[in-house]
Amino acid sequence: MGASADRFEAPANLYSRCRLSNFPVVSISEEQIRDALKSVKYPGFTRDIVSFGLVKSIKIDNGEVKVQVAIATNDPNVPATIKNDAEKILRSLAGVQSAKVLIDIHAPPAGTGAGVVAAGIPGVKHIIAVASGKGGVGKSTVAANLAVALEQIGARVGLCDCDIYGPSISLMFGTRERPMATDENKIVPIEQYGLRLMSMGFLLDDMSPAILRGPMVTRYTQQFLRQVDWGELDYLVLDLPPGTGDIQLTIVQTVALSGAIIVTTPQEVALIDARKAATMFEKVNVPVLGLVENMSYFISPSDNKRYDIFGSGGGEREAKRLRVPLLGQVPIDIATRESGDRGMPIAAEDRKSLVAAEFVKIAQRVREALA
Ligand SMILES: Nc1ncnc2c1ncn2[C@@H]1O[C@H](COP(=O)(O)OP(=O)(O)OP(=O)(O)O)[C@@H](O)[C@H]1O
Ligand SMILES: [Mg+2]
Repeated sequence: MGASADRFEAPANLYSRCRLSNFPVVSISEEQIRDALKSVKYPGFTRDIVSFGLVKSIKIDNGEVKVQVAIATNDPNVPATIKNDAEKILRSLAGVQSAKVLIDIHAPPAGTGAGVVAAGIPGVKHIIAVASGKGGVGKSTVAANLAVALEQIGARVGLCDCDIYGPSISLMFGTRERPMATDENKIVPIEQYGLRLMSMGFLLDDMSPAILRGPMVTRYTQQFLRQVDWGELDYLVLDLPPGTGDIQLTIVQTVALSGAIIVTTPQEVALIDARKAATMFEKVNVPVLGLVENMSYFISPSDNKRYDIFGSGGGEREAKRLRVPLLGQVPIDIATRESGDRGMPIAAEDRKSLVAAEFVKIAQRVREALA
């Protein structure tokens, strides 16, 4: 484009006038439309409608664009938001005179999102995802201690570390054992402290996760979730990586979850992301069983005084807002961090501790919620 084009941007209606008076018309390709649609996110997710495979057709006729999108949802806000966002973006493109986004809506099967069928795992009664929007708020700590506490109240429990980029369950359970495979090519979980454990970290050791990208991660995660031979379990706890992106989406679409637990700290920054995670599960029809507020407070060992380091009441307020229970409040606790680093979750190492008792309470509430 010449210098004049840089200084002057014609509004869309000018193009039609240009055409009438035989000025050169800016034409737009299907690829440009598809590219622009990549900035339309599926509501509640960081993933866009193109990579989601929802854009079924694009037709362009003299600057008039028609896009067909197919989605499976029960939520009327989802198609409305996608339609608005997509039309707005398309209308802002040079060369587009009118844009219409037509949406085909189907009802999704229960427990799934965006029309992909998630299936249960044979022998496993309940699959629970432990998630958060924000990283480092203590998901793995909560997942590990909750799994131990569920076992202590009499359940058969498995724990699966789904964090391909930063697996931590093998460290928290002090095991580097490599899992075995059965004749049917199934992976056998490792047994530790009465739990069955599986971690992507057990299998990945020489392969740098940094080279696993996009579709490879999706395939690997799906295969991993489907190939483990869990046996008979009451609960399978999934420790999710932080965020609401592709991997989380793949997981919720691959296995039918009974519910999700969202971990947050009392700070606003964590609560905002907890809200995003809750919305993500809502959109894919997975019930949020409740929030766990981690690092809620600190009891000083010297004077037994309570300090609300990250403020107080955040988890409770957010649980009310989301209309889900606050399942528990776990203090910041030096022994909790140390035991995690040592390879034995606090709920197993010191059953009399305040934190262990809180996890038993959380486990009981989870059991009630799923009964
Ligand atoms: N209640 C707690 N008291 C003290 N330390 C804690 C507590 N919860 C978590 N930690 C520590 O904080 C660090 C981060 O916790 P953790 O790995 O469980 O977070 P995460 O949300 O799983 O992180 P990521 O997003 O990277 O997966 C760890 O060192 C852990 O031991
Ligand atoms: Mg983690």
